[in-house]
Amino acid sequence: MSLFFIQMADPQLGMFAFFSGLTDDEIEERRRRGINARKAPAKITGFADETRLFTQAIEAANRLKPAFVVVCGDMTNDPDDEAQLAEVMRIGHLLDRNIPLHWVAGNHDAGDAPTAETLVRYRERFGDDNYSFDNGGSHFVVINSCVCFDPGQVPHEWDALVEFLSNDLQAARDSGCEDIVIFMHHPLFMDDPEEADGYFVIPGIRRKVILDVLKAQGVSAVFAGHLHRNAIASDGPLQMVSTGPVGYPLGDDPSGLRIVRIYGDTIEHDYYGLDDLPDSVEP
Ligand SMILES: [Fe+2]
Repeated sequence: MSLFFIQMADPQLGMFAFFSGLTDDEIEERRRRGINARKAPAKITGFADETRLFTQAIEAANRLKPAFVVVCGDMTNDPDDEAQLAEVMRIGHLLDRNIPLHWVAGNHDAGDAPTAETLVRYRERFGDDNYSFDNGGSHFVVINSCVCFDPGQVPHEWDALVEFLSNDLQAARDSGCEDIVIFMHHPLFMDDPEEADGYFVIPGIRRKVILDVLKAQGVSAVFAGHLHRNAIASDGPLQMVSTGPVGYPLGDDPSGLRIVRIYGDTIEHDYYGLDDLPDSVEP
């Protein structure tokens, strides 16, 4: 094994409280959109559930000692809630300082339709939204999928993202790295690269632009979140992996994280519920 890393998605502090406040009609409306909202026994406030879950995930990383941790977006439910933000940062800082922590912009962080203001705010809080890093002979690229989802108010950001991605991947290929992996919040697709547009995936017109760049450079895999459930698909040799949430689940899988092992040019990965994690990751 060249390395393993831990992918987390959607710790989303405040989502349990938000969903506990939905009326029957609001739950029904979400179910029609494919969002498996559940009736809570009682209205809750704050983010105690997410604190427990995200802390459990970070403590697992400290024990397992991955090459790095990546959090694929939706760090908080409400980007205007300073208490949620402070708490997610506090827990993030519990990660062993020898393990790099990489943030990825989610729609709850940078907006369903980002603006210049939401992007500035994101970058002040979490750093760059489009960047790359190397580890163990592999190359990892983070992109801001909120800009891919709806660049209507920031069209130049979409142009800049595509240019960054193209140039970065070409440079990685030229340097001879074995594997290239992409992290983003929204999946490019859930089941099929030709599937219809919708809330959960990058619209087809921009999905194709990104996929063409990734396939031209032989990218191995894309890891995303956003669905709050697991979904695994492919486009030829490219794996498209959507990972369930650290926080509130919207599918059958429990709150959890994904362990990704890279062996030369092969990538293997498994999702684990937070109460069902291994004691160690063996080579
Ligand atoms: Fe989310």
